[in-house]
Amino acid sequence: MPKAHIIGTGSSVPKRVLSNEDLEKIVDTSDKWITRRTGIKERHISSKTGNESTTDLGTQASIKALDMAGVSPDSLDMIVVGTVTPDRQFPGAACMIQKELKANNAYAFDVSAGCSGFLYSLSMANDSIRAGSCDTALIVGVDRLSSIVNWSDRGTCVLLADGAGAVVVSSKETKGGILSTHLQSDGSLWELLYSSYGNSSPPEILHDLDIKPYHLKMEGNRLFKRAVEYLTAIAEKALLHNNLTCDKIALMVPHQANIRILQAVVKNLAIPMEKVFVNVQKYGNTSSASIPIALDEANRNGLIKQGDHVLLIAFGAGLTWASAMVKWSI
Ligand code: ACO
Repeated sequence: MPKAHIIGTGSSVPKRVLSNEDLEKIVDTSDKWITRRTGIKERHISSKTGNESTTDLGTQASIKALDMAGVSPDSLDMIVVGTVTPDRQFPGAACMIQKELKANNAYAFDVSAGCSGFLYSLSMANDSIRAGSCDTALIVGVDRLSSIVNWSDRGTCVLLADGAGAVVVSSKETKGGILSTHLQSDGSLWELLYSSYGNSSPPEILHDLDIKPYHLKMEGNRLFKRAVEYLTAIAEKALLHNNLTCDKIALMVPHQANIRILQAVVKNLAIPMEKVFVNVQKYGNTSSASIPIALDEANRNGLIKQGDHVLLIAFGAGLTWASAMVKWSI
């Protein structure tokens, strides 16, 4: 059976950096509160005029991943994009990115699975490659949560941000690559994190923000507890499935929502914090983009080497949660 190997990674974030001090001018908050409760120091926020739409960011990340993989866009069979913030309701972001890349031989579609969107998409590609119906796939995680944040809600606007990450996955007969994926959801908990109609006006210092006519609503406290429980459980499931223990994991790359969530998961798994990739301080929570941005940063900084076991875990709206165990082959 062919195996799906990650052969290239890429990422892209908007130019504008919004610091905690900037947020102090928007809502009643402080750098001290945000740092202590979340670990976030700054995040990137897109502007309407800067070629920073969902399609733009997703395309930029894809070009970098394709370049690393040495794959031309017309060799792609499949483009899957995890996002909850496509530029328009339809066509999906995947078709728009396909157009920009001129990836004329691919079929393209979006996956809406909250912050787990990237791992859900990766799982679709893995299954297609293993089944022999696809040779080369581009998987993108991209979101611009700034467009659906209520900028007067300090409980959410300090957490959420924009960005894109991508990987190219290719079919190979050699062992390794994506060893397993596990996907789970519980729709009965949808009210912990959802979007509903309710336009907000952009704050003055973000006057050029692209605001959409709906808001994100979140019950942070209850979500926090579920995130810790489900991320721990899905990591344990991946380890058990692959007959691995934490000491065999070179790097865990979790969804970057809150440093306190990650510290609690690390404690439950008894995995050393040094083996956990953390960049939430620089990017905040970029939803579907969070894992592929982190994976690209870890890869380009030489933190992963061939043969390493890398464990990816995600959690998000739905509720959804997911894992992928990868034996690194770049
Ligand atoms: N600045 C200052 N004070 C604040 C802020 C803020 N930005 N936000 C809330 N507070 C206040 C609250 O009003 C509350 O005040 P009170 O005690 O006077 O009522 C106090 O801080 C404590 O609020 P809590 O909500 O209990 O704070 P908590 O420690 O739970 O932290 C947080 C809140 C950061 C949202 C946390 O619950 C969290 O991270 N939850 C998980 C969120 C998450 O993971 N979301 C993403 C998953 S899905 C996805 O990625 C889209």
